[in-house]
Amino acid sequence: MTTSAATDTAPEIHKGLNGVVVDETRVSKVDAASNSLLYRGYPVQQLAGAVPFEDVVWLLWRGELPTASEKEAFRSAERGARALDPTLRSLIDSLPKSTHPMDVLRTAVSALGTLDPEPAKPSPDETYERALRVFAQIPALIAYDQRRRRGQDPVDSRDDLGYSANFLWLVFGEEPDPRDVEAFDVSMTLYAEHSFNASTFTARVIASTLSDLHSALVGAIGALRGPLHGGANEAALALLEEIHDPDRVDAWLDAALAEKRTLMGFGHRVYKNGDSRVPTMEVALGRLLDERPGQENERLRDLYDALQQGVLERKGLKPNVDYPSGVAYHLLGFDAEVFTPLFVAARVAGWTAHVVEQRGANALIRPLSEYVGKGYRDVPVP
Ligand code: SDX
Repeated sequence: MTTSAATDTAPEIHKGLNGVVVDETRVSKVDAASNSLLYRGYPVQQLAGAVPFEDVVWLLWRGELPTASEKEAFRSAERGARALDPTLRSLIDSLPKSTHPMDVLRTAVSALGTLDPEPAKPSPDETYERALRVFAQIPALIAYDQRRRRGQDPVDSRDDLGYSANFLWLVFGEEPDPRDVEAFDVSMTLYAEHSFNASTFTARVIASTLSDLHSALVGAIGALRGPLHGGANEAALALLEEIHDPDRVDAWLDAALAEKRTLMGFGHRVYKNGDSRVPTMEVALGRLLDERPGQENERLRDLYDALQQGVLERKGLKPNVDYPSGVAYHLLGFDAEVFTPLFVAARVAGWTAHVVEQRGANALIRPLSEYVGKGYRDVPVP
């Protein structure tokens, strides 16, 4: 037996799996060179706003846009699955109101799994049926939680409203403005899928062990929660609130960069010349600002532009989709802590498509590591 940890050649280490291609996918294509994002071949910019979010979800799951009858069946199934089980209402009520909405959602999706166990070796159809129930209930979970924190009674879903309109209705309890619905729907489509990002990869790792769908979704929610990933939309708004005055941007940036602070909502692992989703989200954000004239929102618009300009000049970094979407969700009236749960609501679509794809050609995901700890030593004998 050898006792030496030494090796002849040190393996190449890909910290953070940066630049590593770990598998093939047919779900989406992120092309940093052309700043483009395709869902099953369709440019996301063409889908957003033109194709309702429910149809985008079908596209991601089934590979094609729905036919008229598929559309009808999917909508009716989604509307029929929206009501929250009383178990979930009591579960949320039992959590402290101070619980972060991402933790509430993670706990609730885990509980959904106990109410909807998967059969052994689920088919893609069986997986999509369960995913649809999660997808349909997430708006009610988010709304129930936001309303209880605000001391408001829950409202019931409306079968006459599509996914995004019903979402706003559930959260705010008012007939939503169609322009708000459109902006929200655009954000959902833009957030729905983005290849092997950290949360999707987490979902695929969990699926690769032949674990169940809900476990993969819960793990993905945990990965998305961090501010380097989905948590950035909440963190980006916090930066803007901290700076507050557009005239303070330069001084604030000087201090922040001297302290080596991370500028939330800027930069991206794959896109080095701008996030393909930002222009579309900025159009939606611009409309929301135009519809809400006033000093306060003009300040916000100037601040948004000034920070973006300042970060580009000083660091050469461009915003990612979390920068405009956080501000858009703020204008729509969501609490900042709910922004990342909104990202979950959309990304459940992508995560599920990847779980099905992983299961369809599975290989346990289990990389290697280079041991750099202490060499062999015997346990001391007293
Ligand atoms: C999402 O992967 C996906 O597809 C994710 C996503 C999706 O749809 O699923 O697009 C959603 O997660 C968007 C990203 C949200 N995160 C943030 O906004 C947090 C702020 N961004 C950064 O932390 C950063 O840009 C990352 C984490 C997004 C990506 O970072 P990388 O590729 O790991 O690069 P890095 O952190 O190693 O940075 C490289 C250099 C460093 O400088 P040097 O040490 O080389 O001098 O760039 C600097 C970094 O310090 N840098 C930043 C910065 N982003 C990069 N410096 C300050 N602020 C930043 N935001």
